[in-house]
Formats: sequence, C-alpha cells, structure tokens
Amino acid sequence: MVTFFCVATFLLAHVVVPASSVLLDSFSALPRTEYDFVIVGGGNAGAVLANRLTEYSRWKVLVIEAGPTNENVFNSRVPGLVATLQRSPYDWNYTTVPQPGLNGRSILIPRGHILGGTSSINGQFYTRCSSSDYDRLALNHLSLVLPADESQAERWTEPADGHDTTGEYDPRFHNKNGMTYVSVSGAPQAVDAKVLEASKQLGGDYAYRLDFNSGDSLGIGWVQLTVGHGERSSSATAYLGPKYINRSNLHVLVGHQAVRVLNTTSRGGVPSLRTVRFVKKTEPNASVHEVTAKKELILSAGVIGTAQLLLLSGIGDSTEVRSKGIEPLVNLPSVGKNVTDQPFLALQWGLGINGTVTPSDALQQQWLAQWNETRTGPLSSIGHNHLGWVRIPDESPVWSQYEDPSSGRNTPHIEFAFNGGAFHPNPGATLTTVLIGLQPVSRGTLALNSADPFEHPLLDLAFLDSDLDLYTMKYAISSLRRFFKAPAWDDYKLSPISPPPDEDDEEGLTEYLRNFGDSAAHAVGSAAMSAKNAPYGVVDPDLKLKKATGLRVVDASIMPYVTAGHTQAPVYAIAERAADLIKDSWK
Ligand SMILES: Cc1cc2nc3c(=O)[nH]c(=O)nc-3n(C[C@H](O)[C@H](O)[C@H](O)COP(=O)(O)OP(=O)(O)OC[C@H]3O[C@@H](n4cnc5c(N)ncnc54)[C@H](O)[C@@H]3O)c2cc1C
Ligand SMILES: *[C@@H]1O[C@H](CO)[C@@H](O)[C@H](O)[C@H]1NC(C)=O
Ligand SMILES: *[C@@H]1O[C@H](CO)[C@@H](O)[C@H](O)[C@H]1NC(C)=O
Ligand SMILES: *[C@@H]1O[C@H](CO)[C@@H](O)[C@H](O)[C@H]1NC(C)=O
Ligand SMILES: *[C@@H]1O[C@H](CO)[C@@H](O)[C@H](O)[C@H]1NC(C)=O
Ligand SMILES: *[C@@H]1O[C@H](CO)[C@@H](O)[C@H](O)[C@H]1NC(C)=O
Ligand SMILES: *[C@@H]1O[C@H](CO)[C@@H](O)[C@H](O)[C@H]1NC(C)=O
Ligand SMILES: *[C@@H]1O[C@H](CO)[C@@H](O)[C@H](O)[C@H]1NC(C)=O
Repeated sequence: MVTFFCVATFLLAHVVVPASSVLLDSFSALPRTEYDFVIVGGGNAGAVLANRLTEYSRWKVLVIEAGPTNENVFNSRVPGLVATLQRSPYDWNYTTVPQPGLNGRSILIPRGHILGGTSSINGQFYTRCSSSDYDRLALNHLSLVLPADESQAERWTEPADGHDTTGEYDPRFHNKNGMTYVSVSGAPQAVDAKVLEASKQLGGDYAYRLDFNSGDSLGIGWVQLTVGHGERSSSATAYLGPKYINRSNLHVLVGHQAVRVLNTTSRGGVPSLRTVRFVKKTEPNASVHEVTAKKELILSAGVIGTAQLLLLSGIGDSTEVRSKGIEPLVNLPSVGKNVTDQPFLALQWGLGINGTVTPSDALQQQWLAQWNETRTGPLSSIGHNHLGWVRIPDESPVWSQYEDPSSGRNTPHIEFAFNGGAFHPNPGATLTTVLIGLQPVSRGTLALNSADPFEHPLLDLAFLDSDLDLYTMKYAISSLRRFFKAPAWDDYKLSPISPPPDEDDEEGLTEYLRNFGDSAAHAVGSAAMSAKNAPYGVVDPDLKLKKATGLRVVDASIMPYVTAGHTQAPVYAIAERAADLIKDSWK
C-alpha cells in the first residue's frame, strides 16, 4: 500500500494547530458516566453512528477513540498529501506476518489512528461497487440496498476548479443532500485525454462508463473522490462537523483505547456485553476506566481493532484465547478468521518524453500555495483521474477449475487506476498504474500476539495463496498491456520500469507478483456476518454478536466478502443501515 500514492513525496511537517474543540481528552472531563450507547472507535463507521444515534436528543452517546482529533491536521485536509499520512501519528502502523505468497515479505497495513479513522487517511476514492455486491450481502445476510443506504452518506458536489463536468458522471445516481462530499477530480492530468482516447479506440472491456457508481461498474470512467471544495471529506468532517459534535447528548473522548469488553449481567445465561474497559493511551497504567451502555455497546474499531478487542475479551475460539492466558467469555471460533484483503500491484511506465520530470521542491511549494489560497490545483486531487473495471472473460480456461468469485455479471474481477505522471499538469516522466485483484479467494487470519492490548496482533492476509488470485493478477497485467496497445499511446513510447516478464513466462510472472505484490488496504471479514443459524460467523444479519446480548459490530470487519472496489462507500452504507436497525430496535 505504500506505493499507491508514491508520487506524492512531500516532506511537509504535520502541522497541527491547537483547536478549540468540544472534544474531551480525559475521563474526568466527561460530564456524565451513563450513556445509552457507547461506540468504540470514532472511525469511518463509528462517526456515522455517533451522528445518527444522537439525532434523538434523549439518547446519550459516548464515542471512545484511540487516536487524536482530525481537527486541523493539515495533511489530512489536503487531498494530495495523502501519502504523508502513512507511518505518521495518524497511522496504527500495522504489518502482516511474513507472507508465504509474497516470498516471505511482511507488508505494511496502514489504518487510521485519528478521528474519522481510515476515512481520514485513505485515498479518497469513492467506489460504491456493484449492485450485485449489495444483493449478495442482502441475500442471506444484512438487508442492504444500493443506492438507498449509501445515498444517505453521499453529498454530491462540483469540483473546486469549477470545470464543466458534463459527461464525467451521471447525475441520476447522485444525492446532493447527504453527508460526505463526493466529487469528480478537479485537477486535470495530461494523460486523461490518452486514457479516454484509448478507451474509445478499443471499446469492449475498456469501453467508456459514464458513471461506474451507477450500480454497474464495468468499463473505464472518471474517478469520484470524497473531496469537497478541494478538501478531504471524511466521516469526521462530515458526520462530526461542528454542528454535530456540538450536540449536548454526544461526547467524543479521544486518545483512549478500549482494552476489554466485560460481561455485565447474565440474562438467562446469555452474557450481556455492555461494559467496556479503556485506558488513556499516554498513561495506560494510571487510568483504567469502565463505562456501561444502558442500551448497546457498539464496536466500530475497524477490521483489526474490533477483532483484537473481541479476542482480548475472551470472545473467539475458546482454546485459542485460553492459550494467551485470557478467560474465555463467548466461544465464537470465527473471530479473526476468513479475513480478506485485495492484492495490489503498482507498475510504473516511462513515457519516453522530455527526460525525467520530477516535481521540484519549488513546484511543490507553488502547488501548496495554490491549494492554501484557492483549494485548487494538483493537491486538490490525488493524481488518479480514471479507473477501469474489467472481468476475466467467460471463456477463460480458469473457470473450468474455479467458481467465479464475483457477485454477478456486472461486477469486475480487476481494477486499473491511472496516475497521470507525477501530479504534473504536463506529462511527467512516468505514468503509474495500479492493478487490484478485486475478488480474492485467499482467506487470512488475525490472532493475538499476547494478552497485551498494546501489542499489535498477528495479521496474516494470505496474499496470493490461491492460484486463482495469482491468475487474476496475471490477467490484470496482460489486460493492461492490451490497453496500452491502443494507437492513442503511440506518441508516448510507454516503457515499463522494472517490467514484469512476458505473458508466456508463467513462472517469471508468478515470481514477479510474489516479489512486488502488495495490499490494496481493503481488508474485511474479521468479525463476519452470517445467517442467523449458521454454524460459523461472528454477527447475525442485524450485526448483533452471536451468543450474547448488548453488543453490535458495525464496521468493515462484518463483511463476509470484500466488495469489488474500494471499501469506504460500502462501510458508509453498512453504518447508515446499522443506524436504522438500531433506531428501529429502541425507538
Ligand atoms: C492507506 C489506505 C488507503 C485507502 N484508500 C481507500 C480509498 O481510496 N477508497 C476507499 O473506498 N477505501 C480506501 N481504503 C479503505 C477504507 O478507508 C476502509 O475500508 C474503511 O475506511 C474502514 O472503515 P472502518 O469503519 O471499518 O474502520 P476505521 O475507519 O479504520 O475505524 C476504526 C477506528 O477505531 C479506532 N480504534 C481501533 N481500535 C480501537 C480501540 N481499541 N479503542 C478505541 N478506538 C479504536 C481507530 O483509531 C479508528 O479511528 C483505504 C485504506 C487505507 C489504509
Ligand atoms: C507510526 O509510525 C510513525 C513513524 O515511525 C510514528 O511517528 C507514529 O507515532 C506511529 N503511530 C502510532 C499511532 O504510534
Ligand atoms: C454550539 O452550541 C452553542 C451553545 O449551545 C452555540 O452557541 C453554538 O452556536 C453552537 N455551534 C455550532 C457550530 O453549532
Ligand atoms: C456473565 O456474568 C454473569 C453474572 O453477572 C454470570 O452468571 C455468567 O456466568 C457470566 N457468563 C460468562 C460466560 O462468564
Ligand atoms: C505498564 O505496566 C506494565 C506492566 O506492569 C509495564 O510493562 C509497562 O511498561 C507499563 N507502561 C507504561 C506506559 O508505563
Ligand atoms: C469462512 O467462510 C465460509 C463461507 O464463506 C464458511 O463456510 C466457513 O465456515 C468460515 N470459516 C470460519 C472459521 O468462520
Ligand atoms: C516537453 O517539454 C517542452 C519544454 O518544456 C514542452 O514545451 C513540451 O510540451 C513537452 N512535451 C510534452 C509531450 O509534454
Ligand atoms: C500552507 O498552509 C499551511 C498551513 O497553514 C502552512 O503550514 C504552509 O506553510 C502554507 N504553505 C504555503 C506554501 O503557503
């Protein structure tokens, strides 16, 4: 994942301006200790719930967030400075265990450690994924409807540069009255015209798609970003903006980490899990606090945080948790199993023009000055202006060995992203392409390293364990090569830097992928939802923990399959849906 935005090499300091906020950073400052709902994790999903549940003024809600506030974290506000947020105080800095499928390499897995969670540090791509992805989730599980649930989240807006966006998206599929800003990119790249021309010349798999957020995603189209008025829009800026965080029934405690969920009382033998123990991160031994939710405790600590917290609480495979010295509480062997992430490969192409054009420090300062002044220019976007979504064809021999892992025929197996030459308005020296295997079948695990809540868990994402996942990535490389054969590219003399071997060199390609493959940072499934009476799974379709009462899980960890795209829009949809479910059960 480090390579996704490798062109943004800014070394700007993380400017944090002290803010006059209504956030709380100490337990003693909490105006009360009784809450109806306690939400662990003020991340992508948690901030949505905090907002929606406090719409009822009589419901008192507490959010406990491990990271600091997002307020005035300058680099999080500037879309083009996204790369600087990794390996920063706003990143948990997780790594995987050595991955056999990646020749024993360990991979960095960033996660937001900040209010807004990963939505405050992510790449800002807004991809709803396909309607069949939602149908598949709804079929046996959570009843989730595209676009009804997702559209409560979206607040469509025009890009800050004010260009005419006609033909870049289909307004019929967008909502101007939701919460988080979504817009097409406001920073044109010289390669944009080439991508569109090649799409026109080749058609077929690469045909132009006016709006890949229409439910049908196949083809090549303009990117949509969680950017509004040139600034990042996150669940924190949108759902916890000043007028919401100001609600007197909402308290947001930052800098505190939940370390254990406790059994409160037993109702008919079923544990009631409404108490959470947490500590101040900077003085973990001095300050152990507990708070009990009158109605529900909601875990929104993300795909890693949620599963780790469950295991630390003895909720998981009883034998496994006991082996770490933890008293088992609820035997749910699926906690931390079936974890799924998408494999990723970045390829750089020399453009064969004008030698090496690396944006100079002076140019970067100029872009920053422009952004500061008008919220426009290269830093108002992320360098990727087009995405392509392609299926492995039906006639591929691979389907005689494997079942199609996609949710439906409108759903891609692979994604291309085109980053137009080092943020340069003129073609730079290189074009970066990103390839993602959208429908991996490899399944990984998350396990405790120890009972210490501050020790990172053992994360095994099983990248490229499955031959189908390897095949998919090889297919992505060959499909991209076909795209670059379009006459549109002739004057660019594209030459791959560190090129993958040729298509007929199966073993060479396998080695290449094992040496350079990475994570798309879209992990899901560590606390997966399953049908109510399924013998596996962690939560029921209403997102309540199985075999217990009082606890729901609402975040990316509940997705039993990864949707075919980037995961923030589905997380918004799940959180909006969950808020409705919770309201329905208590109002
Ligand atoms: C670098 C990167 C780039 C990405 N780019 C994109 C993109 O461009 N488009 C896209 O759609 N998706 C992208 N994703 C994925 C997407 O952002 C995530 O899938 C999604 O935001 C996850 O939401 P969540 O609510 O499940 O978890 P998070 O948003 O991670 O929220 C979890 C929150 O819980 C807090 N927390 C964790 N443990 C505890 C604890 N014990 N106590 C208290 N608080 C705790 C965390 O600090 C965090 O705030 C990207 C991810 C990464 C890492
Ligand atoms: C992540 O790593 C960076 C760089 O090493 C460090 O500055 C930061 O504090 C770390 N994040 C956390 C939450 O500890
Ligand atoms: C926050 O609440 C105070 C007092 O209730 C009010 O005066 C102020 O205008 C509110 N601020 C916002 C941004 O809504
Ligand atoms: C949960 O606590 C209750 C008492 O409050 C007890 O009866 C029950 O056995 C406990 N359950 C577990 C699994 O520890
Ligand atoms: C907290 O206590 C544990 C065990 O007593 C110790 O290992 C750890 O270093 C302490 N942490 C801090 C931050 O003082
Ligand atoms: C993993 O998911 C599959 C369904 O996709 C299920 O059959 C299996 O039981 C799950 N495994 C665990 C340990 O939850
Ligand atoms: C190459 O550089 C020259 C001079 O800077 C510029 O005028 C020209 O447009 C560039 N060519 C391309 C294809 O970008
Ligand atoms: C842009 O604004 C930031 C934050 O106020 C400041 O730190 C930086 O120096 C400014 N840069 C330029 C080039 O104006």
